[in-house]
Amino acid sequence: MSFWEYYSAVTQPNLSPADQQRLDDLYERMRALSPRNVGYPCNQDFDFSELFRFLQFSANNVGDPFHSTNYRLNTMEFEREVLTDFARFTRAPADEWWGYVTSGGTEGNMYGLYVARELYPEGICYFSEDTHYSVAKVLRLQHTRNIMLKSQPDGQMDYADLRETLRIHRDVPPIIFANIGTTMKGAVDDLAQIRAILDDLAIANAYIHADAALSGMILPFVDAPQPWNFADGADSISISGHKMLGAPVPCGVVLARKAHVDRIARSIEYIGALDTTIAGSRSAFSPLLLWHRLRTLGDAGLRHMVQTCLGNAEYAVQQFRAHGIEAWRHPNSVTVVFPKPPPSMMEKWTIAPRKNIGHLIVMPHVTRDILDAFVADFAAALQTVNRKPSS
Ligand SMILES: Cc1ncc(COP(=O)(O)O)c(C=O)c1O
Repeated sequence: MSFWEYYSAVTQPNLSPADQQRLDDLYERMRALSPRNVGYPCNQDFDFSELFRFLQFSANNVGDPFHSTNYRLNTMEFEREVLTDFARFTRAPADEWWGYVTSGGTEGNMYGLYVARELYPEGICYFSEDTHYSVAKVLRLQHTRNIMLKSQPDGQMDYADLRETLRIHRDVPPIIFANIGTTMKGAVDDLAQIRAILDDLAIANAYIHADAALSGMILPFVDAPQPWNFADGADSISISGHKMLGAPVPCGVVLARKAHVDRIARSIEYIGALDTTIAGSRSAFSPLLLWHRLRTLGDAGLRHMVQTCLGNAEYAVQQFRAHGIEAWRHPNSVTVVFPKPPPSMMEKWTIAPRKNIGHLIVMPHVTRDILDAFVADFAAALQTVNRKPSS
């Protein structure tokens, strides 16, 4: 036995057999659930075994990834490469962007709204009824005035309501929170229309944050994307890493125009880094996960993955309709919307219903076999419900 093995044996206590069994049970439960996870936008189709060895280090990407830090056990070099790829995907202006790997889409949205609030302390944030629930909380946390706009039935922001509300508050800089793929319906708020309304009302001081949690890794890989990125007028963009790209832990990327970020950077001596990020200690592992996905798939692989999912989403719509179930989806969206399924479906499948609708998110692990099984179960459940005598 080497010294290290001996040292580990005496200092690293083993789990009791009962605790070991609990872990084994949890593993089996997660393994069985994973393929049926069809209602949430989490890609389950990845292999990171090459990276397992990095879990032996207490690595940390504390601070700004573009500056040095005293904590040298970090992966910032890889983080910067990930960010450079995302800057390309989002058509960020060359050398005029900044960003970091976040703990997920929520932190990225928080960052965008924080930058906006620092630029326009008196600003009012506008977001639609279909915006992710976490945004109202972020706005409360930072005391940003805000107004919820009406949504159209398809989930896009109601542009007439935006125009009218902006007109009433023309003296206050607007912070527009645009959904680039809403949670329930996959709707994309049209940045070109939003910019046109601002121009029409002669509002020069405005900020647009794009919440591209899921669609930020879809729209760069389609032929005719809706206007959504920096070239279309966004000031900051947040994208989740564990959604379309796929990761075993929540993570994401946020990017913003550099001129905005420079206004809020502060230097902190203790970590020897610029305190530009929301979190202090940040995962050094998630940049590796994102980097590994980007390098193993490459642009061609990413396009293939996205196009396969879009094709399968269209297949699902057709299968639903063939069974008499009224399903639909937006262009460039993997979110298939249908009437709220009967309760028996919820027991077998992990789906997220809201009000009178449900949805499938056709991620890479959701194959046509899984879609066939889902639609067949749905049709059978509807028949059972319809057969029940009314009391
Ligand atoms: C549109 C949208 N924005 C933000 C989020 C939050 O992202 P995260 O779960 O990565 O924090 C989600 C999550 O589903 C979402 O759908």
